[in-house]
Amino acid sequence: TVRNLFLLPGDGIGPEAMAEVRKIIAYMNEEKGAGFVVDEGLVGGSAYDAHGAAISEEDMQKALSADAVLFGAVGGPKWDAVPYEVRPEAGLLRLRKDLELFANLRPAICYPALAAASSLKPELVEGLDILIVRELTGGVYFGEPKEIIDLGNGQKRGIDTQVYDTYEIERIAGVAFELARTRKNRVCSMEKRNVMKSGVLWNQVVTETHKAKYADVQLEHMLADAGGMQLVRAPKQFDVIVTDNLFGDMLSDVAAMLTGSLGMLPSASLGAPDAKTGKRKALYEPVHGSAPDIAGKGIANPIAMIASFAMCLRYSFNLVQDADNLETAIANVLDRGIRTGDIMAEGAVQVGTVEMGDAILAE
Ligand code: NAI
Ligand code: MG
Repeated sequence: TVRNLFLLPGDGIGPEAMAEVRKIIAYMNEEKGAGFVVDEGLVGGSAYDAHGAAISEEDMQKALSADAVLFGAVGGPKWDAVPYEVRPEAGLLRLRKDLELFANLRPAICYPALAAASSLKPELVEGLDILIVRELTGGVYFGEPKEIIDLGNGQKRGIDTQVYDTYEIERIAGVAFELARTRKNRVCSMEKRNVMKSGVLWNQVVTETHKAKYADVQLEHMLADAGGMQLVRAPKQFDVIVTDNLFGDMLSDVAAMLTGSLGMLPSASLGAPDAKTGKRKALYEPVHGSAPDIAGKGIANPIAMIASFAMCLRYSFNLVQDADNLETAIANVLDRGIRTGDIMAEGAVQVGTVEMGDAILAE
């Protein structure tokens, strides 16, 4: 098998973290014949410096034809003043749009070794393993009309419109139910049907999709505000949470803080399955940004990027055992007290980016 990976390391600590993933890819090719073919491009500020665009057309084509895209991070003070259309984030937004990545998967896993560092009581989060599935291409972020109008009486009106069509809810619900089957087989759908028409439709379509195709999965509905409360009160009650773009943005950031550092959190964004091959377009990236404050110092935590590659192994290539092994290796290295500065604890051994990558690879 040939497995095409397109790497976009980006700016700041992106390339430093991606280098550690490259070592794992090389190992899997040499020792396990994994057949990864790796190509690399520029995105964000580094692409702007080279081409005057946040991503070149050539690299967009490569991203579109790859089996999976691994993305580092973009941005930094150097590019704060570049024109809006070519700002670093435009590269990521273009990728999400052109690859039609409508499903954003944000796991919140609390490694046992890090439970003590959580902002919550350790017993609430120890062993936590939930997955938030956020709709990424619809809802209030894209609905029309979207504008500020002048009311002419010294007042202005800001308008955003929440729009969801049946097909958008069906496909995101389908992703959530399918993922639940590979986990604890439970989905909690969150909306605000008590005040929003789109919430009423969301609830109906999720219920119908469940009944028609996924009745074996346990389904629960929660109002999103109550869901936010439950996420902080008793997060381990959840397995998969499926929700819209706006609620998903907020709930996944709340869930992130249950687990400790930004340097630990991976994500995946998936598109629709291809009609012929059944393969989904996919992009994998850490949740953190380019961390200009620590870039170039060799101290960034590469775990979020490495865990994003584990998601890639699982969701794009169905290499479930390899994904499990990689995640276990991360947990074991943390158990042994090996830490980068951002997750440092008393009695642990502080290492840099490269040493952390080496330790995970050795494990
Ligand atoms: P950030 O995530 O880059 O950094 C926030 C804080 O967390 C910093 O103190 C940083 O040192 C620390 N941190 C982040 N990742 C870390 C890691 N792997 N290891 C150790 N420490 C880590 O967010 P910030 O500072 O708000 O943004 C910096 C730049 O990144 C901005 O230009 C922003 O636009 C961009 N950004 C890009 C994202 C992306 O590419 N998807 C997402 C978020 C921000
Ligand atoms: Mg957010």
